[in-house]
Amino acid sequence: MVVFGISRKETTPFDGQKPGTSGLRKKVTVFQQPNYLHNFVQATFNALPDDKVKGASIVVSGDGRYFSKDAIQIIIKMAAANGVRRVWVGQNGLLSTPAVSAVIRERVGADGSKASGAFILTASHNPGGPHEDFGIKYNMENGGPAPEAVTDKIFANTKSIKEYFIAEDLPDVDISVIGLTSFTGPEGPFDVDVFDSTSDYVKLMKEIFDFDSIRKLLASPKFTFCYDALHGVAGIYAKRIFVEELSADESSLMNCVPKEDFGGGHPDPNLTYAKELVVRMGLGGGGHVDEPPEFGAAADGDADRNMVLGKRFFVTPSDSVAIIAANAVQAIPYFSSGLKGVARSMPTSAALDVVARHLNLKFFEVPTGWKFFGNLMDAGMCSICGEESFGTGSDHIREKDGIWAVLAWLSILAFKNKDKLHGEKLVSVEDIVRDHWSIYGRHYYTRYDYENVDAGDAKELMAHLVKLQASLPDVNGMIKGIRSDVSNVVQADEFEYKDPVDSSVSKHQGIRYLFEDGSRLVFRLSGTGSVGATIRLYIEQYEKDPSKTGRDSQDALAPLVEVALKLSKMQEFTGRSAPTVIT
Ligand code: G1P
Ligand code: ZN
Repeated sequence: MVVFGISRKETTPFDGQKPGTSGLRKKVTVFQQPNYLHNFVQATFNALPDDKVKGASIVVSGDGRYFSKDAIQIIIKMAAANGVRRVWVGQNGLLSTPAVSAVIRERVGADGSKASGAFILTASHNPGGPHEDFGIKYNMENGGPAPEAVTDKIFANTKSIKEYFIAEDLPDVDISVIGLTSFTGPEGPFDVDVFDSTSDYVKLMKEIFDFDSIRKLLASPKFTFCYDALHGVAGIYAKRIFVEELSADESSLMNCVPKEDFGGGHPDPNLTYAKELVVRMGLGGGGHVDEPPEFGAAADGDADRNMVLGKRFFVTPSDSVAIIAANAVQAIPYFSSGLKGVARSMPTSAALDVVARHLNLKFFEVPTGWKFFGNLMDAGMCSICGEESFGTGSDHIREKDGIWAVLAWLSILAFKNKDKLHGEKLVSVEDIVRDHWSIYGRHYYTRYDYENVDAGDAKELMAHLVKLQASLPDVNGMIKGIRSDVSNVVQADEFEYKDPVDSSVSKHQGIRYLFEDGSRLVFRLSGTGSVGATIRLYIEQYEKDPSKTGRDSQDALAPLVEVALKLSKMQEFTGRSAPTVIT
């Protein structure tokens, strides 16, 4: 057995190692600087309680992006030197973010051990490759992202770090082969356990959903299905679940082989970046020959996001979570005894609020970022939650879950079609959404992103908006001057959230303009970008009249868009005449 020693290395702090909405994300070249990753990993170990490190089991894996394999070997060596007892690694270093959460919560090692946390190596939907992004975040024992108290401590540690510990002479472990490798260090045994990346997650999905009914739906000749993993880690789960378990045809899978650079693409499941799927679903605009499938979906790099499409039909993520919540009890066995509550992030449309009111469910509006849902779920207050940014999930884990969302939709389709599989026509995704609008009304919704804006310009724009809020009569005067057909603003504020569980307060979570007719404008700065600033503008209009819920979304929103751009002086502050991405 290999015996290793521990080296203490001197180091100096790097600027800017502050974890954002979801961990530390920077260009690969930044992470490749000597000691850069080491500092952050040591700062994390130092921020955790001793017993979560010494003698503990931790998980290390991610979406397989470029630099992951090097990072995994470094983290294994640093874990060994910091007294960790064993490191669990998904085969080839692959684990989706939701699978990591499931592994922390569910997996029991051969000796009865459970994981105390995980380093997840991903920059989510950001591109990968030698000149693109890498990222790292730490998840805690509940399977969710480290709370702000911990990430603040990590950041503080990165600013004062002087040393790190590493088992330099520990040989690299072959992470392509499942199995246990044991070593001996000064503090005793140390193991690296490479395990199957999909089995724990698949087991959990089978406990939640009725796979038989989904299999029947997929077997119907009238139902056609496709799934695009955009070359992210979702591919390995899609193959296992959709093809091997649910017997979908292999040809349903698109881009399901994970690649370090995501095939050169931007692994973000939206109408802009998931182009191939969008065209296949008949939404591309151009002339297509084949009949599009009934159902299509995509995931981001680390498989926590999802986009759901019907034939020639886009389901907004805000509608998606509302529709899942409205149908969960009937269609998904895991929820058959009722929902504990539902939650959405502040910029997400109010479609979920309306469902919560109708079904008399507890409802929460939290700041952007999945970690805020975790507390509610740990306290048993929330079952289903979602974000407008293509994130949907439930309390089965503490991350959003892209494959879960697809299985939820397939379950709803299977439920609505259970007596129709041999009949004339299936209930389609579009039918389900239009029915939902006719009951609950429709929230027309769009988001404009201005990426890589000068950070100073972005700050000035936000400061301008904060100043404007002070006087509603002035704001309404300006709005009437821009568009007389837009209703009055009745409240304008900076969103602030007091966590009902631990009473912690999160301030400056975005600027909101709430209109009399239920419309909203929200402005906020992204916390996940790696260069410059990204301004996000969220625009939403509520339409209760069932005869008016079938309009083209961009047409319906045009007046509010005009108001938002002129009120914020977007072009003056940023020099941009158009957003980088519209979703
Ligand atoms: C973005 C999304 C947010 C999501 C986060 C992580 O954060 O807007 O909803 O939780 O990515 O996937 P942002 O860049 O807006 O801070
Ligand atoms: Zn992601």
